Amino acid sequence: MAFYFSEASHTFGEYLLVPGYSSADCVPANVSLATPLVKFKKGEKPKITMNIPMTSAIMQAVSDDKMAIALAKEGGVSFIYGSQSIAEEAAMVARVKTYKSGFVNSDSNIKPTTTLAEILALKDSTGHSTMAVTEDGTPTGKLLGIVTSRDYRVTRMTEDTKAEVFMTPFSKLVHADAHTTLPEANDLIWKHKLNMLPLIDKNQRLRYMVFRKDYTDNKENELEIIDDKKRYIVGAGINTRDYAERVPALLRAGADVLCIDSSEGFSEWQRTTLQYIHETFGEDVKVGAGNVVDRAGFRFLAEAGADFIKVGIGGGSICITRETKGIGRGQATALIDVIKARDEYYEETGVYIPVCSDGGIVHDFHMTLALAMGADFMMLGRYFSRFDESPTDKVRINGTYLKEYWGEGSNRARNWQRYDLGGDKKLSFEEGVDSYVPYAGSLKDNINITLSKLRSTMCNCGALTLPNFRRDAKLTLVSSTSIVEGGSHDVILKDKFSSRD
Ligand code: IMP
Repeated sequence: MAFYFSEASHTFGEYLLVPGYSSADCVPANVSLATPLVKFKKGEKPKITMNIPMTSAIMQAVSDDKMAIALAKEGGVSFIYGSQSIAEEAAMVARVKTYKSGFVNSDSNIKPTTTLAEILALKDSTGHSTMAVTEDGTPTGKLLGIVTSRDYRVTRMTEDTKAEVFMTPFSKLVHADAHTTLPEANDLIWKHKLNMLPLIDKNQRLRYMVFRKDYTDNKENELEIIDDKKRYIVGAGINTRDYAERVPALLRAGADVLCIDSSEGFSEWQRTTLQYIHETFGEDVKVGAGNVVDRAGFRFLAEAGADFIKVGIGGGSICITRETKGIGRGQATALIDVIKARDEYYEETGVYIPVCSDGGIVHDFHMTLALAMGADFMMLGRYFSRFDESPTDKVRINGTYLKEYWGEGSNRARNWQRYDLGGDKKLSFEEGVDSYVPYAGSLKDNINITLSKLRSTMCNCGALTLPNFRRDAKLTLVSSTSIVEGGSHDVILKDKFSSRD
C-alpha cells in the first residue's frame, strides 16, 4: 500500500509568527541577516556567506549579469541561467567578475554618421541619453565625441542631421586615463562639473564611462558581497547533461558557486553530476542541488555531496507541475520536513548544509516565515522579475507597466534539461507558463522595503540573527477564518473612491 504522510500539506500563507520578548537592544539597526550559502563543518566558516538571505532564480527571465551585479551589491547572489549556450553563460559570468563598480561599459554607441532620428530611436530603446560617438560605433572604438540630449533640439533640426554636426567633439571633452581610480574620477567630475567622464586607453579607445549620478550609489553598498580580489560573487546554473564541458567553462569565467537546476533532484542524475564535479574539480568547487520536498530527498543529496539543497516542487508562481503531473508538496510543510533532516544531519556528522526555500514566495512576510521555519536563504523568481534589472521587456498594457516573466519549463524557455529524465532532448509537455508581472521599480528600493519588514519582525520575535530567529521563533497554523481577519476587513478603503462629493 502507498505511504501516506500524516499531515496535510501547508503553505506559508497558513502560518503566523507569535511575537517573543524583545529587549531594548532588539532594534532593526542591530539585526544581521548574514547567512551561509554553502556547507561547512562545525567550528569552521563557510566558503561563501551572503549578507542577505536572497538568491535570484536560475531563469532566463530573472538572472543575467545585470541582475547578478545589482543583487551582489545588496548582499545576495544570482545564479545565471543555464538554459543558454555554454559560451553565452560563461560570458555573463565573466561580465560580473570583470565589472568594476562605478565603471560603466557604454551601451549606447553611435558613429559620427548616425542621424538624429536613429539617435532618438536608440534613446527610446535603452533609456539612456548619453551616447559615445566612436569611429566604428562599438563600445570600445576610438572615441570621437559624445552626444547628450543637450546637444540637439528636435524642433530645430531635421531628422537626418548627423551626429558629427552637433556632438561635443573629443577635443572639447574632459577625459581621463583608463587606469583612473573611482575617487580620482569622481574628483574630476566635481571639479569640471561633468555629468560623465569618459576613460580612454592610450589609443583614444573608450574603456569606461563614470557617471556623476552613480557617485552616491558607489558609496552606499555596505552589504555588497565580493571575493578576495574585490569582484562580485556570482553563481551559475548547470544541468545533469553537459556538465563535463559547462562546469570548466563557468569556473574559468570565475563562477563562485554552481547549482544544478532541476525540477526534481532526488535522482541518480544529480548524484552522478555532483560526484563527477567534486572528483574532477575538487571539493572546493561548490555545487548546490535539488529540488527535494522531504527528508529522504535531503539525505540523498547530502550524501551525494551537495553543498546546499533547494526545497520546493510545484510552488513556483509560473509552475504548473502540480497540475500537469500531480507531484509536489505545500512549500511550508516541505521546508519544515527538510529542515528537520538538515538539523539531524548536522547533529550526526557536524556538517551544516544550508537549505534554500525555492519558489512560491508571494508576500514579503512569506520570506520571514521561511526563515523562521529554518531556511538559510530563499530563491526567488517572480520577486526579482518585476525589477528594472531583470532581463525581460517592460511593456505598457491598458496604462499599467508590466514585465514579462516565463517559466523554464514553458515552451518559450524550452529548458528541457531541467526536466531531464533521460530520453529525448525535447520538452514533451509544458510545466511552466508565460506571463506578465507588475513592474515594481529598482531592485535596491524593493529589497530595502522587504528587508526592513524582515528585520522588524525579527525584532518582534526577539532575534538579532537568523540562527537565533529560527531557534526562538514560535509559529502557529491559522484557520481559514483567521486568514480573512488578517487583512483589512469590514471597512471601505478610501482608494476605492476618486473624490469626495
Ligand atoms: P517563484 O519565485 O514563485 O516565481 O518561483 C521561482 C522558482 O520556480 C524557480 O526558482 C524554479 O525552482 C521554479 N521554476 C522555474 N521555472 C519553472 C517552470 O517552468 N515550471 C515549474 N517551476 C519552475
